[in-house]
Amino acid sequence: DILPGIIQPLLTWYKGQASDRQLPWRLSPTPYHTWLSEIMLQQTRAAAVIPYYERFLAALPDIAALAAADDEMLMKLWQGLGYYSRARNLKKAAQVIVAEHGGRLPQEHKALLALPGIGRYTASAIGSIAWGKPWPAVDGNVLRVIMRVLACSEDIMAARTRTAVEKALAPHYPTGSDASALNQAFMDLGATVCLPHGTPHCPACPLQQLCLAHDNGQEQKYPVKAAA
Ligand code: ADE
Ligand code: SF4
Repeated sequence: DILPGIIQPLLTWYKGQASDRQLPWRLSPTPYHTWLSEIMLQQTRAAAVIPYYERFLAALPDIAALAAADDEMLMKLWQGLGYYSRARNLKKAAQVIVAEHGGRLPQEHKALLALPGIGRYTASAIGSIAWGKPWPAVDGNVLRVIMRVLACSEDIMAARTRTAVEKALAPHYPTGSDASALNQAFMDLGATVCLPHGTPHCPACPLQQLCLAHDNGQEQKYPVKAAA
């Protein structure tokens, strides 16, 4: 079983390179900051998110302010990020949080999932980063890394593949700041090293020694994506 062995190298790598990825939401990962950044990062690259994130927080510094935000102002703050339903869902969710959760994000996975705009990946990212919950946040980047490490040909577009990866990772997940570090290590590895196109930077990868795709010289063969 290869999976348990990838955790420690990923954590060590993340801690060593953290200073290279000084993303503003990592400086004070309150639940609100984490939620907002994860929503912005759903369809937008980190570098592009930074100025939007800072402007948004300056205008709407907390959940109560977001719940009461003027719609026109909200759309202005989002202008250029695209996928405006994300902004509308943020405000809707803030209103639910004020009305039903005393103004604080709920800490149960199911309650997070019930909020507009929050799916499995985002709920897990928020829980791990804001509260240290041991929840694997599995998106396309994580799937790509795992499928390569395992040289696994399962279709990454199939829901069962993602469920299987979540299930396989969950028992090995740490809690506390390491849960946050591990999920963000996967995100950073997928964004900067184990790249989707072209050649991944295997010589710079903390998983190089145990990666079966790299062993076989078959990084390009994975992940397998069934034609739509
Ligand atoms: N993509 C999604 N969540 C992220 C995070 N917390 N840091 C960097 N990139 C991300
Ligand atoms: Fe990806 Fe290469 Fe690292 Fe394997 S060794 S996980 S293919 S970057």
